[in-house]
Amino acid sequence: MITVDRQAAKALHHQIYDACRTAIVEGRLRPGQRIPSSRVLAVELRVSRFPVLNAYAQLLAEGYLESRVGAGTIVSRSLPDQLTSSSRPGVRFAAIRSGPRPVALRPSCLNRLEKSPWLGGWGALGVGQVAVDQFPLPIWSNLVARHSRNMEAKSFRYGNQMGSEALRKTIAAYLRTARSVHCEAEQVMIVSGSQQALEISARVLFDPASSVWMEEPGYGLARHAFALTGCHLVPVPVDQEGLNVAAGIKRCRKARAAFVTPSHQFPMGVTMSAPRRFQLLEWAQHAGSWIIEDDYDSEYRYESLPIACLQGLDASARVIYIGTFSKVLFPSLRLGYVVMPSDLIGRFQAIRRAMDIGPPSFFQEVLADFIEEGHFARHIRRMRVLYRERRTALVDSISKELGSMVEVLGDEAGMHLAVNVPSRCSDLEIAERAARQNLWLWPLSPSYMAGLPRSGFILGFGSTAVTEIPRAVRQLRNLLVAK
Ligand SMILES: Cc1ncc(COP(=O)(O)O)c(C=O)c1O
Repeated sequence: MITVDRQAAKALHHQIYDACRTAIVEGRLRPGQRIPSSRVLAVELRVSRFPVLNAYAQLLAEGYLESRVGAGTIVSRSLPDQLTSSSRPGVRFAAIRSGPRPVALRPSCLNRLEKSPWLGGWGALGVGQVAVDQFPLPIWSNLVARHSRNMEAKSFRYGNQMGSEALRKTIAAYLRTARSVHCEAEQVMIVSGSQQALEISARVLFDPASSVWMEEPGYGLARHAFALTGCHLVPVPVDQEGLNVAAGIKRCRKARAAFVTPSHQFPMGVTMSAPRRFQLLEWAQHAGSWIIEDDYDSEYRYESLPIACLQGLDASARVIYIGTFSKVLFPSLRLGYVVMPSDLIGRFQAIRRAMDIGPPSFFQEVLADFIEEGHFARHIRRMRVLYRERRTALVDSISKELGSMVEVLGDEAGMHLAVNVPSRCSDLEIAERAARQNLWLWPLSPSYMAGLPRSGFILGFGSTAVTEIPRAVRQLRNLLVAK
């Protein structure tokens, strides 16, 4: 923040004094903040210590700084200039703010995020939340400690933009066996959650003129990521068999891509039927289009074995397959993956490099060992039992407390279910009131892009213990009845 000019007429100590004082008055140095020692500042400014000591002495004398034994010198917590309006911290910045401040036009769907209090909390019935208390933290911590002890020179360099080789190999092996994905490690890119996979895929595949089929209702964050490219989003209805491919063809045969969640449709929870899967693949092949498959929670199926993914049925390399560790481990890990057709690898790499060069390496290495040593598979097996219990408890409570007031939608899978409520109830209003009571209902209507949205809620059961569920459902009933 401070520079000095040796050629200037003003003495060095005066320049240092002025620069420090201005930084304090403008609020760049805050009350209580430590300032560098005179020795350190002198080295940084390449001057002797005398002018710095002189300047600090003046600032101390005037009350801008205070010395604290053992804590060095800090900015005074009762600034003399604070009382005069012309020099109050921040005033100059307020003046700057009054000029023109042009920013990019953003897609209108992003505006709603600021008014969505139900996204803000962690607790009963929250969507996208996992049983963090069940995570094998001691094992994870041991792996983290082991990796920090064993960091080598290469751990500090820029890594591979596709991600850690060890993790990509491990993920490829897992996806081949557990999800029937056709892939080699070379096709796997590690990303920071599936959200980044969506953004990179959109930048690789879409132009502003592209049309993209979106499930209706569907995953809002996919819409937001795609909308950033300026492409045209085409809502395609979802029914009991998943995306209605015939309706999509009718609306926009030549779409550049279709975004789907075939294993467990978000939010309605249906599984895409086999005939629809083949229809979708056939359309993509004939139209020269892409399919973006978001396979976000397919590990959790409670009635049957996990459903094989769409990518595994694709004979013409048209599917971009996306997965995440947010549901099977925990969302703050921000690790996911995208499996791309081989001919797109170079394009994905180029976009990735331009965006963030590559993923941070440390937790990738930890995760590779966590999977390799068998902890990942064990954790999923345990969570499958736990989430099944929680889902059953939620469905039972809904039927007991809400009876025919709502309809439960979705297969026995994943970590959420949806309920429809009578159309006179505004799900947005109820969700807003619920959030104030620490109940995190996701309203269903924002999942629709067009037409007449259905009123309802997406209810997560991942982080809600069986014993907490009846109370949360009674809270929901009270909110519905009060309408
Ligand atoms: C449909 C869908 N896809 C993906 C995710 C996970 O996103 P991320 O990997 O960015 O945390 C979620 C989380 O709730 C989701 O609902």
